[in-house]
Amino acid sequence: MIHYKELGLVSTKEMFAKAMAGKYAIPAYNFNNMEQLQAIVLGCIESQSPFILQVSSGARKYANATLLRYMAMGAAAMIKDAKSNVPFALHLDHGDTFDLCKNCIESGFSSVMIDGSHHSYDENVRLTKQVVEFAHSHGVTVEGELGVLAGIEDDVVAAKSIYTQPEQVEDFVKKTGVDSLAISIGTSHGATKFKPEQCTRNEKGILVPPELRFDILEECERRIPGFPIVLHGASSVVPEYVETINKYGGKLKDAVGIPEEQLRRAARSAVCKINIDSDGRLAMTGAIRKVFAENPSEFDPRKYLGPARDELKKLIMYKNREVLGSAGKA
Ligand code: G3H
Ligand code: 13P
Ligand code: ZN
Repeated sequence: MIHYKELGLVSTKEMFAKAMAGKYAIPAYNFNNMEQLQAIVLGCIESQSPFILQVSSGARKYANATLLRYMAMGAAAMIKDAKSNVPFALHLDHGDTFDLCKNCIESGFSSVMIDGSHHSYDENVRLTKQVVEFAHSHGVTVEGELGVLAGIEDDVVAAKSIYTQPEQVEDFVKKTGVDSLAISIGTSHGATKFKPEQCTRNEKGILVPPELRFDILEECERRIPGFPIVLHGASSVVPEYVETINKYGGKLKDAVGIPEEQLRRAARSAVCKINIDSDGRLAMTGAIRKVFAENPSEFDPRKYLGPARDELKKLIMYKNREVLGSAGKA
C-alpha cells in the first residue's frame, strides 16, 4: 500500500471547496504518455493552476499502471524542483469496478471515480457506497455519476432518461457519501458531441450545438447546495484544431463540442471539475500532422512530439486562464 500523501499528492476535497467559493472549476486533464504529462504539468505551473491528472482504464493498459504511478510521482518532483506549489490530484477516470478503485487507492491515487451510471439506480448506489467506504478510510475522495452522457444512446434528444434526474441527486449523495457528482446535461465524450441534425449552422457554415441543460444543473444545485458537480465530455472541440487536422490530410467530419461560453457559465456555478481529453488529442494530432505534411523526411519523434507537446501546453494555459478560471488559484 502506498498512500498518495507519500507521493506528494492531494485529494480533491480542499480544491473543490476553494473552487466552489471562488466560482471557478478545476481542470481535469487525461494523460497517457510523457509528452501529455509534461504539457499538463508545465502548463499548470506556468498558469499557477491547481489541477487533476486523470488516468482511464485504457491509459493504465496503454502505459502500464506502475509506470503511470511513477510518472505522477515524477510530476510532483518536477513541481517541487520548479519551486512551485501547484497542488494536484491523481484521479481514476471512469472506474467501473470496486476492485479497480481499490487497486488504484492502494497504489497512490488520491481520488477515484466510480462510474455506476450504466447500472440500475439501486446498484449504482450500492457500488458507489462500497467504493466510498474503502476510499474514505484512506482519505481518498470519490466521484460518482448519475445519468448517462448523451451520445451513448442513439437518439440523444428523445431519450430523456439519459439526463440526470435532479430528484435523485439528494438521495444518491446522502446514501453513498460521495464527494462529488458527475451529471449529464447534454455533454458527451469525443469529438462529435452532437449530430448535425441537432445543430444549426452559423454564417460561416460552422455547426452550432444546442445549449446544455442548465435548467437541470440549476435544479441539482438547488437540491444539493454547495455540493461539487463534475462535467465530463466538456471539450470544446476547438475549430482551429479540427481545421488544421483536416488541412493536413485528416478526415474529421462534423466535429462539434461545447462552446466555451457555456463552459465559463458552468465553471462559475457549482461545477467544480471540468474534464478535458479530446481537445488535447486534437491539439497534438494537428501539430503532428503539420510536421509530417511539411517535413515528410522527418523521423525523429522529438521533432513531431515536441511541437505537439508545445501546442497542448498552450491549450492548457488558455483553458485555465480563459475558460475554467483556475489560473492563479494555486
Ligand atoms: O472519458 C473518456 C476519456 O476521454 C478517456 O478516454 O478511455 O480512450 O482513455 P480513453
Ligand atoms: P472530452 O472527450 O470531451 O474531452 O471528455 C473527456 C472526459 O470526460 C474524460 O472523462
Ligand atoms: Zn468522462
